[in-house]
Amino acid sequence: MAKELFKPSVLVGPLPAVLVTTISKDGVPNVFTVAWVGVVCSHPPMVSIAVKKERLSYENLVETGEFVINLTTSDMAKITDFCGCRSARKINKIVHLGLELEPGTDVAVPSLVRSPAALECRVRSVTELGSHDLFLAEVVCNKVDSSLIDENGKFDFAGAGMLAYIHGEYFGLRRHPVGTFGFSVAKKSTRRARHERRLQMSRSHRQKKYKHKKR
Ligand SMILES: Cc1cc2nc3c(=O)[nH]c(=O)nc-3n(C[C@H](O)[C@H](O)[C@H](O)COP(=O)(O)O)c2cc1C
Repeated sequence: MAKELFKPSVLVGPLPAVLVTTISKDGVPNVFTVAWVGVVCSHPPMVSIAVKKERLSYENLVETGEFVINLTTSDMAKITDFCGCRSARKINKIVHLGLELEPGTDVAVPSLVRSPAALECRVRSVTELGSHDLFLAEVVCNKVDSSLIDENGKFDFAGAGMLAYIHGEYFGLRRHPVGTFGFSVAKKSTRRARHERRLQMSRSHRQKKYKHKKR
């Protein structure tokens, strides 16, 4: 494959576009969009977010040392974009968008009811890098929409239609993944069992959604 040379930049994608909730020291919640989010360690579970100093959320992060990563779905694309284009210095995004919050479990920061999964995080360190500061944080609690958990306790995030961000554009991830972890080396019986489980999950997810709509 022929390649062209570009000047060095962070040409990584796709990325998740998450909604990060924070709270001020006076207890005022805020939400902003973050695409520079990463997984850095599984034991202890740790994540990173890269944040510019000028964000109002930056002040909250430094003051309280806590935040929540709210994962987003394609039907949350518009609010995700809005929360990344408007600062709480000018508008109360939570009120403006009518976002419903639920109280934090292990942190004081609330999460978004609409999000399929919320990762409650406590900041462990802040490193100045240049344009952005890197917040390394431990995940102290995870809250996942119960309709996305199967009977074996496995998450079906694909069923939620997750939102991805690739260099300025949002994409809804398709319902069916092109593979699962280890599928390239899995036995035929394992692949079949996984396929069955996925079918079962999507059936029960559809039923739950239908029931929810009827209410
Ligand atoms: C898709 C998208 C991704 C973004 N990712 C980041 C990010 O990783 N870090 C950051 O500091 N700002 C990021 N931003 C910009 C902030 O979300 C934006 O400046 C926001 O208005 C800050 O809100 P606040 O001042 O209320 O904290 C992103 C914006 C968009 C639209």
